[in-house]
Amino acid sequence: MNRKQQIINSAIKANIIDNNLTAIGIMDLNGLQKTVSDVYAAFPENFFHTFAVKANALVKVLESLREYGMGAEVASPGELLIAQTAGFPAQDIIFDSPAKTINDLRSCIKNDISLNIDNLQELERIDQLMDEFPETKSIIGFRVNPQIGAGKIGSTSTATATSKFGYALTDNDNRQQLVNIYKNRPWLKSIHTHTGSQGCELTLMAAGVKIITELAEEINTAIGQQQITRLDIGGGLPVNFASDDVTPSFQEYADTLKETVPLLFTDKYQVKTEFGRAIVAKNGMIITRVEYTKSSGGRHIATTHAGAQILTRTAFLPKFWPLRVTGYSSDGTEKTASNAEIVATDVAGPCCFAGDLICVNKKLPKLVPNDYVLIHDTGGYYFTNHFDYNSLPRVSIYTAQSESTSENVAMSCIRQAQSLEDVLLKM
Ligand SMILES: Cc1ncc(COP(=O)(O)O)c(C=O)c1O
Repeated sequence: MNRKQQIINSAIKANIIDNNLTAIGIMDLNGLQKTVSDVYAAFPENFFHTFAVKANALVKVLESLREYGMGAEVASPGELLIAQTAGFPAQDIIFDSPAKTINDLRSCIKNDISLNIDNLQELERIDQLMDEFPETKSIIGFRVNPQIGAGKIGSTSTATATSKFGYALTDNDNRQQLVNIYKNRPWLKSIHTHTGSQGCELTLMAAGVKIITELAEEINTAIGQQQITRLDIGGGLPVNFASDDVTPSFQEYADTLKETVPLLFTDKYQVKTEFGRAIVAKNGMIITRVEYTKSSGGRHIATTHAGAQILTRTAFLPKFWPLRVTGYSSDGTEKTASNAEIVATDVAGPCCFAGDLICVNKKLPKLVPNDYVLIHDTGGYYFTNHFDYNSLPRVSIYTAQSESTSENVAMSCIRQAQSLEDVLLKM
């Protein structure tokens, strides 16, 4: 029995999954711990890894990531609150929103939370706040857009010429302006870039990192000492949604970075990463129940309870965010060609619009009412992100001491959660 089968079977035994199930999100904490140890094994000790909370904002998951040694990268006041609730100390949090209010900025600087400045207007606000709080321990950086182009998905590419993020490095005389900005502000000790997320090649990400590393060197030389001590190189490692294989691996990314920017792998700079999707996606899954099936125009349709409310990207942009599904019968047996007829199937969600589909025209073992559908690799940016408070699924955290143990399923199961607050408070 593979691990996912075990999880389903354990959850059925523990009555987490039953005939009343609509949809449930499961996080595998043992898998998560292994992923974090893979990250630490791939990079040297001058790297500090923070987790991009936007990818999974569940307090229990964040507490675990903190225990496994990660910091937290937050991009909104809500994420900051959640990270603090999960126990991250100020020095391990970095605030990256592009729309920070003056109050956001003040509370970061007052409470020693590090941040990256997005633009010149924000810089003016920080100048004032540094006068107000000269003793702050916040480490402050400038977010730089290297303008090196997009990956395969426009909406997750952040280093295009016209990106909304950061200071456009190659426009006008911005490069020289940036050198002057750092020269006049000895408290600017970090520099940040994030080339993009899913759809970006490792070489594109590494090229962005190379540009800000060279810029940091140029600025430090112009100043005559090493004022910039931290390089914040963003997240963005893509995830393979097509199979259970972890490709690319953290080691492959580290190898590409080492080849492109060897300086990162010396002790000269502290390097901070902000991985999100690659930490959590493969350690989470959704299980939903088939409510009805029918045939329309020769297509088998299985209607479930997981759709656009928790699979938002897939429902609206299916070409960019395809997901794999596996069917299970109500006793937990995996459906295969040997126990069910293979038919062209659409697996649908519950929302009232035609595009609310998890997958379209897939050859699957025939699903029947009360079967379960497991939606793979959904631990990041799916049920862990609360686009629709009222449709939040129940959330379960799976831990197993070993592959063969089933008793430890569901340390925490929220059966009646109606809102984000319910989940966060009860977890
Ligand atoms: C600044 C920043 N850091 C990190 C991330 C995490 O990216 P990913 O989940 O692709 O690793 C994002 C996501 O867009 C981001 O904007």
